Amino acid sequence: MQQHDSIPLDDFIEYPPQQMHQRSMEFYQDIKRRHSIRQFSDKPVSRKIIENCIKAAGTAPNGANHQPWHFTAISSPDIKRQVREQAEAHEQRFYDGAANDEWLNALKPLGTDAQKPYLETAPWLIAVFSQKKGGVEAGEKNTNYYIHESVGIATGFLITALHHAGLATLTHTPKPMSFLSKICQRPDDERPYMLIIVGHPDEKATIPKHALKKKRLDEIADFL
Ligand SMILES: Cc1cc2nc3c(=O)[nH]c(=O)nc-3n(C[C@H](O)[C@H](O)[C@H](O)COP(=O)(O)O)c2cc1C
Repeated sequence: MQQHDSIPLDDFIEYPPQQMHQRSMEFYQDIKRRHSIRQFSDKPVSRKIIENCIKAAGTAPNGANHQPWHFTAISSPDIKRQVREQAEAHEQRFYDGAANDEWLNALKPLGTDAQKPYLETAPWLIAVFSQKKGGVEAGEKNTNYYIHESVGIATGFLITALHHAGLATLTHTPKPMSFLSKICQRPDDERPYMLIIVGHPDEKATIPKHALKKKRLDEIADFL
């Protein structure tokens, strides 16, 4: 290893094998209860919880530790309304012909359409942006590496943290998403990556059966 500044690893927790087995099972059982939902209640969620979940997302592994992400957490009713208006206008075009038949058929079992009332009902929207330029210090403008991979992992951490905190989410990707940069006043060298809708499910919330079909272990993994 090349010479570099370092400190001893002092926060790793070593569990006995039996406890590791139990923890892995418990985590699986818990994360299995995460579902994308599309009917949210307007029950408020404190900003502190959102801040903690974004801090968790910010610990994700990433290219050269440049942390090429930005999260805009929106609770302002006026901004949520702007997001809804723009998203629904774009989605209408998508469902009216911009998407090809194969894509529309793939979405059919999820029951999605151009109407996105949850963009106003849910207490929080978190717009995730990826940064082309950056560095380990905020404000740097060096080249970023593995941007897509890094922001994808951070978004996964965010969704997992929100679920762990007891919140429901929807991953939403209006096409195109460039309107988010304008509404959130983000700079030109950032790209909107995803929009996460966050809150409590409406008491009548449902999940599409299609989304419950998860591939078996032997279909997604092999062991050499
Ligand atoms: C990158 C990405 C984009 C998505 N875009 C949308 C979307 O625009 N609208 C929507 O209703 N769901 C969207 N979803 C949610 C998926 O439909 C959902 O994750 C999938 O059906 C599996 O269901 P589950 O999340 O409940 O396991 C998206 C998910 C991902 C990962």
